[in-house]
Amino acid sequence: MAIDQSFLDELTARSDIVDVVSRYVSLKKSGSNYFGLCPFHNEKSPSFSVSQDKQIFHCFGCGVGGGVLSFIMRAEGLEFHDAVSFLAKQNGMTVPESNYDPKAGKRRERLFELMRDTARFYYSELWKPENAKVQQYFARRGLTKKTMNRFGLGFAPDSFFATMDAMHEKGYTKEELLACGLVAKSEKGNLYDKFRNRVMFPIFDLRGNVIAFGGRVMDDSKPKYLNSPETAIFHKSRNLFAIEQARKTKNNYFILAEGYMDVIALHQAGFDSAVASLGTSLTEEQARLLARYTQNIIISYDADNAGQAASQRAIDILKKAGLNVRVLKIPNAKDPDEFIKEKGSDAFRRLIEKSADDIAYKLDIIAAKFDLEEDQDRISFLKESAYMLSFIDSDIEREIYTSRAAAMANISIDSMMVEVKKAIQKREHNLQKQQKREVRAAAQKAQPKDKSLKYDNIISARAEEGILSIIFGDNSLVSYLNGKISPDNFTSPILRAFFIYALELYENGKNITIPAFEGHFKPDALSLLATITSRPIPSMRKKALDDYIYKINECSLKSDDTTTQSDPLLAKAKMKKEKIFGGNRL
Ligand code: GTP
Ligand code: MN
Repeated sequence: MAIDQSFLDELTARSDIVDVVSRYVSLKKSGSNYFGLCPFHNEKSPSFSVSQDKQIFHCFGCGVGGGVLSFIMRAEGLEFHDAVSFLAKQNGMTVPESNYDPKAGKRRERLFELMRDTARFYYSELWKPENAKVQQYFARRGLTKKTMNRFGLGFAPDSFFATMDAMHEKGYTKEELLACGLVAKSEKGNLYDKFRNRVMFPIFDLRGNVIAFGGRVMDDSKPKYLNSPETAIFHKSRNLFAIEQARKTKNNYFILAEGYMDVIALHQAGFDSAVASLGTSLTEEQARLLARYTQNIIISYDADNAGQAASQRAIDILKKAGLNVRVLKIPNAKDPDEFIKEKGSDAFRRLIEKSADDIAYKLDIIAAKFDLEEDQDRISFLKESAYMLSFIDSDIEREIYTSRAAAMANISIDSMMVEVKKAIQKREHNLQKQQKREVRAAAQKAQPKDKSLKYDNIISARAEEGILSIIFGDNSLVSYLNGKISPDNFTSPILRAFFIYALELYENGKNITIPAFEGHFKPDALSLLATITSRPIPSMRKKALDDYIYKINECSLKSDDTTTQSDPLLAKAKMKKEKIFGGNRL
């Protein structure tokens, strides 16, 4: 790996996982482990555990886990190298420069610098006298110079080479420009600037790095916006526009808007907790990101149909992340930007105050579909709203909204109650049916959460997991396996890779621990390993190992059966020939 292993060993040795996790999660000791609410998914009862002995964390709920570096990667949204630097800094340690992989850490730094230099270039282009028209475009849209500077707005000149040339002059390579998505390749293989004659909105990550751009045309041509593609430093589903600024707000709510211009107009009008997703609908990752900074979200999407449909989707995603949601409605089908420009910020503040909570909002949406003067429509409204209300957990809340729905359709509260009760029963019935199906699919549950790690042979894989969990619990038992099983017998490629790496550590006189695996495997693989090694270990370990080995051999016999060999003795003989720790390493 790129960073010197002995440095990593020292870093993880100095960073006790309980101390580190405690900065993010309030932990309570119970038995030999610590427990708390998982910071990576929304939950009400703690299924997140930290083991001081093993120096690992693991969530029984969502399945994530790993060592202290995996935790930092997830909690801070960092790549491995950045997590190492982050933790090193907290410990007053310096990552040894010479060991820093020029192809990983340094390269990312280069890409960040390239993006920042490009943003500076766009900025300086915007303020050139010959681009007064562009400045006027922003002015016409009501932005002050202060706001424009605050968001680092710029202009990509109307040229196929200007940006590229300027960045070449600064020493960036073609390859780096491509990697950042700043240039594209023509069919003939020539490079050209991706953003041309567009006003430019830089997108920042939480630490203030420029990671992408959105570029807008100044007329009605299409596409209206062009966004940076996914790159090594930009993942659009994990970031939010203006999050870096909004996180510093004093408001106890965030405003979620649809467009960059909406967010900028909102900030200018004093609503400094506005953010937007990046040209796609809101993702669960973005909702969890928001939940790190606030409890309350006010959705302020466009008033058109698309905006309303998007609001409904966003409500569900935000609720799932444990957030309180309100939805703001702008009269006369306008977006927040236009509304503020026309009516001012006080008027917008009143809209915030009048915003409906998510259920009232949903009731309004359902009611709007029907003519509540018509009997047939009232019945349809009744059924549809009863179904929606059946999802409310709290009895009191459900009762309040049930009476509200009844009043809307002018029917008695009692008959509305009956309808909601029916809807609940129907859902419970369906739930039971589904649970039965789930029991049948129990074997499926034994699969890793990450689909790419899927086991082909679950029975064998469970036994392989068992072997891993035992040798993690008691490293000395590796020698007991000698001559009994080899990595080649493992059916799951990822479990085999774990096993091989564990043997390697053992042979080099190192401890087999999760922290020693960090940086050598991807986060999802480490989550799986944490899941496996957090399981309780049987007390009769050698006996358990024998059973697992037996199971694995039995499985491989079965699969041989189905192909050529049907003679178990022959197969056994073949097995014996295989030497422990021999065979191919991955
Ligand atoms: P203005 O028209 O300047 O007021 O922009 P807006 O920010 O209000 O944009 P709009 O409501 O039309 O769209 C909301 C968001 O969707 C934008 O900020 C973009 O992120 C994204 N978007 C809009 N049009 C396009 C497009 O043509 N392509 C892509 N990739 N994204 C778009
Ligand atoms: Mn707009």
